[in-house]
Formats: sequence, structure tokens, C-alpha cells
Amino acid sequence: MKICFIGTGYVGLVSGVLFSDLGNSVTCVDNNHEKIENLKKGIIPIFEPGLDELVIKNYNAKRLFFTTDINNAIKNSDIIFIAVGTPTAKDGVSADLKNVYAVAQTISKNINKFKIIITKSTVPVCTGDEVEKILRKKNSSSKFEVVSNPEFLREGEAIRDFRYPDRVVIGSNNPKKTIPILKKLYEPITKKGAKFISTSRRSAELIKYAANAFLATKITFINEIANLCEQVGSNVEDIAIGIGTDARIGSRFLRAGPAYGGSCFPKDTKALTKIGKKFKTHMSVVETVIKSNEKRKNNLADKILNILKNPKGKKVGFLGVTFKANTDDMRDTQCLKIFPKLLKKGVKLSYYDPTGEKKELKKIRFIKNTKEILNNNDLVVIHTEWDEFRSLDFKSIKNKGVKIFDMRNLYQPNEFLNKNIKYYSIGRPTNEKKA
Ligand code: NAD
Ligand code: UGA
Repeated sequence: MKICFIGTGYVGLVSGVLFSDLGNSVTCVDNNHEKIENLKKGIIPIFEPGLDELVIKNYNAKRLFFTTDINNAIKNSDIIFIAVGTPTAKDGVSADLKNVYAVAQTISKNINKFKIIITKSTVPVCTGDEVEKILRKKNSSSKFEVVSNPEFLREGEAIRDFRYPDRVVIGSNNPKKTIPILKKLYEPITKKGAKFISTSRRSAELIKYAANAFLATKITFINEIANLCEQVGSNVEDIAIGIGTDARIGSRFLRAGPAYGGSCFPKDTKALTKIGKKFKTHMSVVETVIKSNEKRKNNLADKILNILKNPKGKKVGFLGVTFKANTDDMRDTQCLKIFPKLLKKGVKLSYYDPTGEKKELKKIRFIKNTKEILNNNDLVVIHTEWDEFRSLDFKSIKNKGVKIFDMRNLYQPNEFLNKNIKYYSIGRPTNEKKA
């Protein structure tokens, strides 16, 4: 089975590499020449644990190819995955589908034999219908099938999530023709236990948005419970265990933290409200979740200012600036909303991130190690949950009275009782006020 991925980003590169690792011939296409030339040299454009070795292994085995020649890649493939970005459009809410439709136009000019065209990008319900319309203009409908196969991998866990997903969702309006082919493609994964779910194309498209919006809701719910815990002296981690052990609720995605961020939950929740509007259905829960999540970032900035008391001229160092650990992705990271408010109040900011300096933070000083961050600030904010932040050398801190705000609850408040450190966390009693 010859496969091509159009769009070689977090999803296209990871899925393309892993399909090739399963023995398929995969061509990853991108219109970013530099990215493709680097990949050919083994230079990986993203931070994703374990990906480098797999790219090099499969490229050397000549199962994995990189190209900018989209026309030939389409002609030579039986299955074409569209994995281009669908960011928020200029209106601030809708999904911008221009990349998807541009790719559909290019595919339509290159159909030389039967092809299955799969949208792996997250696209609003009915996008598959539009892609099909574009293809029909130049091709007879017997020459192609448009299928939806949403992706559920997480950045930082992408390899494991691809190999051991909970489910594979295939949405097709012609299941007799497409399902046997795609069942075979995914067999190495479903054989290990993943559920194979076959639905209509529109249902598959909606499953993706419903999944992301539900997870975002779960996180927002526990974040609001954390706020309440802070007022009444309860511990949000006990609450998460207490509710999460109920199988109907489930224990995952109940970690309270600095609001959800990243390239998907923020954009997909917004897009779902827009899809609701288009079909005259008020998505009131999701609208509330978006508002609550936005407000949280503002409230966290206020909490930092309160901890500092007189913020002007105070030094604050952030540990981690991406939206979570194990990724270099800065899209919609929470601190991009927190920093401007702190800077406005005269706070002197610096940061360290395991994935290096960030072009998005040109005005903020990058520090090359955690030790300097710990030693040169009035307040240290643990913003992401990298393993290297789990065993910080607090003993090495020379300045007395330093404060730590642990937004990921990596430590226990009582660990700081006999240290000269004031410790603040999320939804738990601080070591100042004993519960
Ligand atoms: P990305 O921005 O990392 O990658 C997209 C790639 O597509 C880029 O390299 C870009 O250069 C390329 N591209 C854009 N237009 C092109 C065109 N016309 N021809 C060829 N290449 C083109 O995006 P991503 O994070 O991989 O997300 C892709 C899609 O997958 C989105 O719809 C996203 O919502 C969805 N998704 C992402 C994740 C994730 O963890 N990032 C997980 C599940 C689903
Ligand atoms: C998320 C989904 O988990 C994936 O299933 C989906 O495929 C992907 O979006 C997508 O559509 O792109 P991702 O954004 O990589 O994956 O990261 P998550 O691990 O889901 O975290 C998202 C945000 O929620 C992060 O800011 C994270 O810190 C936060 N989070 C997550 C919490 O605050 N608490 C939790 O318990 C879990």
C-alpha cells in the first residue's frame, strides 16, 4: 500500500513515520522546502521524544520519503492523508480550511487511478462533503473516496498514542469499498487492542471535536474545583482521586493546572461553537468552558502579582514556557497571556525551557539552566511538568525568602515547611496556612 501524507507537521510527520515503521511505503509532503531538506538530512523540525531515531531508521530503509513534489506524490499513492494545519481563522473562532481546500484542488488534478483521500486534519463536520465536491469537478466518483480519520495523538506522547490508541475512527459514506482497505492498514494497531470504529463521514468529523471539547471541559471543571479548594482549604488532588475512581468519570485529565493550552483544545473548542452557530445549535457548555479557561490565565497573572505584593522591579523566573511538558510547541501556551500582564506591572521576567529559547519571547530573557532561575529570582513559577523540574535543587538556593509557585503541583506543600521557601500550588493549602 503506497501512502502519502500531505502536511509534515506534528501529525503528518509522526503518523507518516509510524506507518512506514509498520512496513508501508510512505511519502511525507510539505510545501515548506527547508523542512523537507532538513528531514532528508535527519534534522527533525519538532521536539517529540523518540521520533529522531524512527525517522532515520525508516528513511535509511527506503520506506520513508520526503518531498515537496506534491503532484508526483499524489500520483504514486493509493492512500492520501491530508494532515495540513487548520488553525483559527481571522474571525477568531472558525477553523481556517484554506490549506485543506488547496490540497483538495491539487489532489483533484492528479487522480490517475482509484485513491482513498483521508482527512486526518481536524475539520468541521461537512468538510469532507466540500472536499468531495472539489474532487468531483474534475474526476468521476468511481476514481476516489473521501474518508474522515481523525487523529487523537497528544504531543509529547505521540509515538505511544499512535501505536496504542484507544480507538481508530473511520468515517466513510462508502464503507463496503473503503473499510476493508483501511481495516487492513490499521490491522497492526487494532490487533494490539485498539477498537476499530466505523461511522459515517460526518460522525467521524464530529467525534474529533466532541472528544477535544469534552477533555477541555473536564480540565476546566477540575480547575474550577481547584479554585474552590483554595477558598475552603481542601486539596484538589484528593477530589480528583475521589471522583476519578468512579469509572463513569475516569481518572485521566483531572490534573488541575494553569488552564489548558496548545495547538488544539483552544482552537477546536472555539471552532465547535462556530459549527454549532452554523447549524443553529447553541454550544453553551463549550462557550462557558472557553470563557472560564481564558479567565483562568488572567486570574493566575493576578495570583502572581498578589504573591509578589509590590510587583514593580521584582524578578520572576518561569520554568517551562510551552503549553505542557515534552513538546516545543508554543501555540496558545498559557504564559503568552500571563506575561503581558506581569510586564505591564513592571515585573522583570526570565525563563528556562528544556527545548531552548523561543522566538515568541524575544523581549524576555532566556536563561540556560534551572539553577540560575532558582537563584536569581524573587519568585519561580513552575509552568510545565518536565521531569527535570520534579527534583529541583532547592538546597542550592542562596537568596532567603524565595517563593515558588508550582502550577503543576509537582511537589507537596509540606516538603517546604523547614526550608526558607514560601510554596504556592494549585488547589491545595500553601505552607503558609496549615490546613
Ligand atoms: P502543523 O502546523 O505542525 O503541520 C502542518 C504542516 O502542513 C506544516 O508543515 C505546513 O507547512 C504544511 N502545509 C500547510 N499547507 C500545505 C500545503 N498546501 N501543501 C503541503 N503542505 C502544507 O500542524 P499539526 O499540529 O500537525 O496539525 C495538523 C492537523 O492535525 C490540524 O488540523 C490539527 O488540528 C490536527 N491534529 C493535531 C494534533 C497535534 O498534536 N498537533 C493532534 C491531532 C490532530
Ligand atoms: C490534545 C488531546 O489530548 C489529543 O487527544 C488530541 O489529538 C490533540 O489535543 C489534538 O487534537 O491536537 P495535546 O494538545 O497534545 O493533545 O495535549 P494534552 O495532553 O491533551 O494537553 C492539552 C492541555 O491541557 C495542556 O495545556 C495540558 O497541560 C492541559 N491538561 C491536560 C491539564 O491541565 N490537565 C490535564 O489533566 C490534562
